[in-house]
Amino acid sequence: MEPMIVTENLGRSFGDIEAVQRLNIEVPQGQVFGFLGPNGAGKTTTVRLLNGVLTPSAGKAWVAGRDIATEGPTIRRLSGVLTETPSLYDALTARENLFFFGDLYGVSEAELPQRVEQTLQEFELEARGDDRVATFSKGMRQRLAIARALLHHPPLLFLDEPTSGLDPAAARLVTGMIARLSRQEGRTVFLCTHNLIEAQRLCDRVGVIDRGALRALGTPQELARQLWQSVSVSIDLRGAPPASVVALLDGHPLVHDHTEENGVIQLEVESEEAIPTVVADLAATGARIYAVTPKEHTLEDIYFRVQAGDAEGMES
Ligand SMILES: Nc1ncnc2c1ncn2[C@@H]1O[C@H](COP(=O)(O)OP(=O)(O)OP(=O)(O)O)[C@@H](O)[C@H]1O
Ligand SMILES: [Mg+2]
Repeated sequence: MEPMIVTENLGRSFGDIEAVQRLNIEVPQGQVFGFLGPNGAGKTTTVRLLNGVLTPSAGKAWVAGRDIATEGPTIRRLSGVLTETPSLYDALTARENLFFFGDLYGVSEAELPQRVEQTLQEFELEARGDDRVATFSKGMRQRLAIARALLHHPPLLFLDEPTSGLDPAAARLVTGMIARLSRQEGRTVFLCTHNLIEAQRLCDRVGVIDRGALRALGTPQELARQLWQSVSVSIDLRGAPPASVVALLDGHPLVHDHTEENGVIQLEVESEEAIPTVVADLAATGARIYAVTPKEHTLEDIYFRVQAGDAEGMES
């Protein structure tokens, strides 16, 4: 199956600023791709390029098989976009806004009324549907803006900071919706976010961008494997390890390091594959093992490790 998004050395400069440089990513259909990076990294610029709103100054990209440089209007019909500062008509009610944009995006007249009502309900806006958007809170506007991006049921969604400004309940509503759109409905989502916990929950793959350049790309598991030379695992013995266990760990070729605290051994082993071997060897010495827990690196660990690696790279 052809990927939904492919970029080839995609770049965009603004004067001296290289906002995006030689970007190479692929987003498979039906996946949630998380685009992470600090303020000014180039995330929004990338979204604007992929939508054909900005022309690239270098490279190429295809969205749903369409060239971003020449087929912007087609791409925009196939995608829903939540921009950083979504424009809604303040003087119109929420319902009127949805009718207006639904019509603009080509939802048929026969379908539109039902689509609008369903969307207002899904985003818990039906009670305020006839109020002017000028009277909405920030989070209500944000929900309406996401609703607007989804109204024409596009197969691809670009969401630039969808949960910024939302209260925890509304944020959960939106992340739940993103998960459903991808897992149940097979839609592709390109998600820019600073919320690493949300990204961890939602994203199949992530890219980390900084100062215009891609610093890491892959599934969180792949990135963890690339970024850490060893795997951490804790082994609960519910008591101080006997001397035979310490001697085994000291001399074990697959064990890089070990410490013990409160009857739990923290091990650094060569790879995930080393875990069963080391555990079997421990059991063979007579160790009583109550639990073996590999430490999962969170996306937050990965994000900061990538940035720390960059800082090292810059110094050298
Ligand atoms: N229209 C523009 N004119 C000049 N510079 C721009 C323009 N748009 C973006 N830039 C610059 O490009 C760089 C990347 O900006 P971009 O908005 O893509 O970052 P971002 O990753 O979305 O950041 P944030 O997390 O703050 O939203 C920044 O240095 C920004 O100042
Ligand atoms: Mg941005």
